[in-house]
Amino acid sequence: MKKRVSGIISLVLALVLLVSLSACGNQNSGQTSGAETVSAETAALEETDAPETETVSNVPEDVSSAVSNISSVGGVPLITLSNGVQVPQLGLGTQIQSLERDSSESGRKLLNDTSHDAVVAALQAGYRHLDTAHGYFNETGVGQGIIDSGIPREEIWVTSKLWPSEFGEGVTAKAIDDMLERLQLDYLDCIYLHHPAGDYMGAWHDLEEAYKAGKVRAIGISNFDNYMDAFNQIMEEAEIRPQITQIECHPFAQRQETRVLAAQYGMQVECWYPIGHADPNLLQNETLTAIAEAHGKSVVQVILRWHMQEGLCAVPGSTNSDHIRENIEIFDFELSDEEMEQIRALDKGEEGRYFNINYEQMGGFFTSLNE
Ligand SMILES: NC(=O)c1ccc[n+]([C@@H]2O[C@H](COP(=O)([O-])OP(=O)(O)OC[C@H]3O[C@@H](n4cnc5c(N)ncnc54)[C@H](OP(=O)(O)O)[C@@H]3O)[C@@H](O)[C@H]2O)c1
Repeated sequence: MKKRVSGIISLVLALVLLVSLSACGNQNSGQTSGAETVSAETAALEETDAPETETVSNVPEDVSSAVSNISSVGGVPLITLSNGVQVPQLGLGTQIQSLERDSSESGRKLLNDTSHDAVVAALQAGYRHLDTAHGYFNETGVGQGIIDSGIPREEIWVTSKLWPSEFGEGVTAKAIDDMLERLQLDYLDCIYLHHPAGDYMGAWHDLEEAYKAGKVRAIGISNFDNYMDAFNQIMEEAEIRPQITQIECHPFAQRQETRVLAAQYGMQVECWYPIGHADPNLLQNETLTAIAEAHGKSVVQVILRWHMQEGLCAVPGSTNSDHIRENIEIFDFELSDEEMEQIRALDKGEEGRYFNINYEQMGGFFTSLNE
C-alpha cells in the first residue's frame, strides 16, 4: 500500500514536471575561445581534485562536409568548442511551453507559426544561434523560419535535441535523419541528447556515427548533470566525448560545481532558463534593478550580459519581437568586476533551481513522445 501511494505521488509529481518542462524540458570582442572564457572555472579547477581526463584528445576535428560560415554578428562573441567549431555565445530559445499542450492540428500550426515568426525576427535582429528540440514540436516552423529569413543557412548555428523515446542504436540514426527532414536541413550544428533516460548509450553511439558522417558538427548532453551515473557513463564509455552541455543556469542557480566539472571535461556550458523563465522574483530583484538603472539597461539585459561575461552560452526564449531585439542589445556596455560579484552573490545554489528532476526515479516518464 505504502509503495502504491508513493508510486501515485511520483506519477503526479512527474506529470506536473513534464507539463512544465515540456516535452521537456568574455569578452566583448568578436571571437573568444571556450578555454579562455572559463577563467573562473579554471581558477576553481586548480583548487579541486580534477579527474585524470584528457579533455580534448578523444574529440576528432569536425569532419562535417558542411560549408559553415559562422561569424560574429550584432556583437555576439564566438566560443570555440573543443573540436574547433565556433558557436555564437547568445542564441534564441524556441520552446513555447504555453502552446505545447494543444496537440490538435490547429494547435500545432499555431505553435509552429509562432516559432517561425520568432526565428525570423531573431535572425533579422542579428541572432545566429537557434535552440530547438523534437520535444518542442516546432522544428518544422523553426526550419521554415530559417529559409524565410533570407539569412544563408551556413551562417546560423542550429541546435536540436533527441527525445529519449528515440534513443537506441539504429533508432537514433533514423531519428536524426527525420530531424533533418523536419528542419529541411542537410546538417545540424549541434544535437543534444535531451534527457538522461532510456537507452542513452545506444543513442550516443548513433550520434557519434552521425558526427563522423558529417551530419552534425558538435554533439552534446542536456540535463545529464541531474543524473551523475549517466553523466559518468558517457564520459567513460564515449568514443567521442560531448563538446557542450546544456543545463539550467541563471543568477539564482549559478551551478558552480557543474560548471567546474564541465570545464574539466572540456565542455562548454549552455544555459537554459537563462533569465529564470521570467520569474518576477528574479526580474524585480533589487540588486539587478540597481545595476540595470546604473547602465540604462533592463534587468534582462543585465542578466544576459552577466552570462556573456561568465563565458556561458545562453539561449533566452521569446516570441515578442521587442524582447528579442532587446535581448541582443547587450554588447554596448560592460559590467564591472564589482557588479559581477554582486550578481554572483545572488546564487542560491540548488535551492535556486526551478527544475531538478530525479531521473533515476522518473526517467521512465521521458521515454514516450506521441509525435
Ligand atoms: N534542455 C532543456 O531541458 C531545456 C529546458 C528548458 C528550456 N530549454 C531551452 O532554453 C530556452 C530558454 O528557456 P525559457 O524560454 O523557458 O526561459 P527563459 O529564456 O529564462 O525565459 C523566457 C521568458 O522570458 C520572457 N522574456 C524574454 N525576454 C524578455 C525581456 N526582454 N523582458 C521581459 N521578459 C522577457 C519570455 O516572454 P516573451 O515571449 O513575452 O518575451 C518568456 O516568458 C528555451 O526556449 C529552450 O530553447 C531547454
